[in-house]
Amino acid sequence: MRLSQRVARISISSTAKVFAEASKLKSQGIDLVDLGAGEPDFPTPQNIKQAAIQAIHKNFTRYTPTDGINELKEAIVYRHTEDFQSNYTPEEVLVTSGGKHAIFNLISALIDPGDEVVIPSPYWVTFREAVSYAGGNCKFVKTTESENFRLTALQIENALSEKTRLILLNSPNNPSGAVISQKELHKIAKLAYKRNIMLLSDECYCHFVYGGLPQFSMASLSKTYQENLIIIGSVSKTYSMTGWRVGYCLASPILVKAMLKIQSHCTSNANSIAQKAAVEALLGSQNSVQTMHIEYSKRRAFIVQALNEIPGISCNWPDGAFYVYPNVKQFLGGVNKMTASHLALQLLHKAHVAVVPGEAFGTHEHLRLSYANSIHQLKEGVNRLKTFFETL
Ligand SMILES: Cc1ncc(COP(=O)(O)O)c(C=O)c1O
Repeated sequence: MRLSQRVARISISSTAKVFAEASKLKSQGIDLVDLGAGEPDFPTPQNIKQAAIQAIHKNFTRYTPTDGINELKEAIVYRHTEDFQSNYTPEEVLVTSGGKHAIFNLISALIDPGDEVVIPSPYWVTFREAVSYAGGNCKFVKTTESENFRLTALQIENALSEKTRLILLNSPNNPSGAVISQKELHKIAKLAYKRNIMLLSDECYCHFVYGGLPQFSMASLSKTYQENLIIIGSVSKTYSMTGWRVGYCLASPILVKAMLKIQSHCTSNANSIAQKAAVEALLGSQNSVQTMHIEYSKRRAFIVQALNEIPGISCNWPDGAFYVYPNVKQFLGGVNKMTASHLALQLLHKAHVAVVPGEAFGTHEHLRLSYANSIHQLKEGVNRLKTFFETL
């Protein structure tokens, strides 16, 4: 069968692949420690679930406006203003079926074949594939482990060309957990504005930063920059709602309308019941977010220390998100030409620990482990890793 060139250019999400493989092993009854999945292990908070149940009872089960119900758009604006002192209006909001969908809409609306998109590396898998699907070219900007993968404006500036159409930022970063400093973000916003380049800021993990760092959104920067700026947000990670599929985009009304055109022929509105649940998530008590944050802080402290105690592994302290990105180069190469992907496969099948290899994110010496998992599971996972690496 001849498939389109568009589809031939992309491959299935490597994180989704690990997820599928891990699910298969679990269904075979294997006691797997799953550190691969990028999702909170907490249940969705009770008040949010109740809002959804109520929506069903009230028969809120029909199509909604494609760009989302007004109540939710207002709730998104409210939460953003409360948390980040931003000043958006509902006309600048598009509700989507998850943050991933918002990114896909945005790239489809902006990128033509041959356009360049600057992406700091390591990067989240979907960025590269969504750009390729649209026919754009990715220009990766390598951030280094010695700088804890922190990006600078100068690195971005050096990567720009006449063809650059979009800069894609993700802070806190998946997979490295790196957080870009506010000073550098400001410089990048200024640079994008001056050069008339669009700037996407994926802030899906913005509520999870550690070590006393302030939570930050690029939307807090001067209104001047907003014309070029697109903020991607999601309730998935913040409220432990990955399966509900609600995300959003804050952008100029022109761009919102362009994305709406695409969405109107694709998914239509995000799930009506989940939209009502998201309203409660954003307007209701934020205690659950704080509880998760405290728990992630403890888990982060545990896993970074425990990994660094395994001979041959070195692990940076990530500033945000809920991933660690340890370096495993000591175990690579050799007669077997071992790669991080081989290691991840062996870990899955021999040690029954699911992790994602760095190749998925554009680096070759790392594994990504999610600590959105109970301390008990993390301890078991680290013990298995220790035994596995000792035998290599
Ligand atoms: C960096 C980043 N952006 C966006 C998303 C999308 O999340 P969702 O589509 O569940 O909102 C993810 C999910 O893993 C992510 O890691």
